[in-house]
Amino acid sequence: MELKSKIEKTFEERFGTKGSLYASAGRINLIGEHTDYNGGFVFPGAIDKVIMAAIRPNGTDRVTAYSLDLGEEATFGLNEEDAPSQQWARYIFGVCRETLKRGFDVKGFDTVFAGNVPLGAGLSSSAALESCFAFAMNRLFNSDAIPKFELAKIGQSTEHNYCGVNCGIMDQFASVFGKKDCLIRLDCRSLEYEYFPFSINGYKLVLLDSVVKHELVDSPYNKRRQSCERVAAKLGIETLRDADMAALETIKAEISTEDYMRAKFVIEEKKRVLDVCDALNRGDIATVGRLMYETHRGLSKDYEVSCEELDYLNDIAKECGVAGSRIMGGGFGGCTINLVANEKYDRFIATAREKFSARYGHEPKVYDVVISDGARCVQ
Ligand code: GLA
Repeated sequence: MELKSKIEKTFEERFGTKGSLYASAGRINLIGEHTDYNGGFVFPGAIDKVIMAAIRPNGTDRVTAYSLDLGEEATFGLNEEDAPSQQWARYIFGVCRETLKRGFDVKGFDTVFAGNVPLGAGLSSSAALESCFAFAMNRLFNSDAIPKFELAKIGQSTEHNYCGVNCGIMDQFASVFGKKDCLIRLDCRSLEYEYFPFSINGYKLVLLDSVVKHELVDSPYNKRRQSCERVAAKLGIETLRDADMAALETIKAEISTEDYMRAKFVIEEKKRVLDVCDALNRGDIATVGRLMYETHRGLSKDYEVSCEELDYLNDIAKECGVAGSRIMGGGFGGCTINLVANEKYDRFIATAREKFSARYGHEPKVYDVVISDGARCVQ
């Protein structure tokens, strides 16, 4: 059954009435990885995979939430001491709390939600969930008075304060601001952004999901961020946005090799985003693709957030003459994003399926990218 009808039906069964429907999207990122929390540039877009929720204020100060995908219910109050124990419910609770903390309104509601954003694939299902509820709280209880950027920040603070991930703003930004057929270049220092209509005649963007999620013991994501912050502090600057390789070389002897490699990647990556945008404006797909391979190399060798399976998918792309390919998102599993000429598409997908399953015992999942709208009301 279609997502929308499934949610509507379940909402009616559980709460005996209808709710209003909201949705927000997962995201891809063409280039600019681990640059957001360094004040650099990112280049994401929302996709056609969403988290959708039916919501109805219930006249109390409690929330009853049902996750259709997990078949679990959680109820919680809106005060800090009423935090739910289920991890998935903490995303919704966090959004409510962060909205209240900013002086806006949230009252009790009933909700049923579900989604088709693959989990753990690096497509930001959690940002989609946060943005869906932030958008809905704004519409239902605040007459849209909360500015759009604040909605993204409500989601980001939810990750920081309720989920233990010290993430940047990219995922929530893309989920809230996404626009059909457009990528968005965001300057994460000034928060200025620009929509780039994304049409690449003769090419497709396709994701290959390794379906691998490596156990994130010790929060390696937060550790990468700490490395960057240590180097910035050493350089006496706020973020690595203001660093260049010459400056990094001057402190090389005073920092660990690991911190040096992390900072080197970030400095190179922030320039690649601008170079990719210029190349796209010129219609120079070869350069876009080459820079994507460079990013993969950097993420794998210098930032060390790739894994064997993703490196293998990247090698297969190279062998098949795919224009550009790289690991996408935070890393440690998930997808590669591939820019592939139409005539090479079928052979690439077939080869990737065959070789990957011969080595790892399962095929990668294939998602064609459709750039779509972000947070919205669903009619
Ligand atoms: C995760 C985070 C983002 C960003 C990416 C890496 O998706 O949530 O803020 O840092 O990793 O680019």
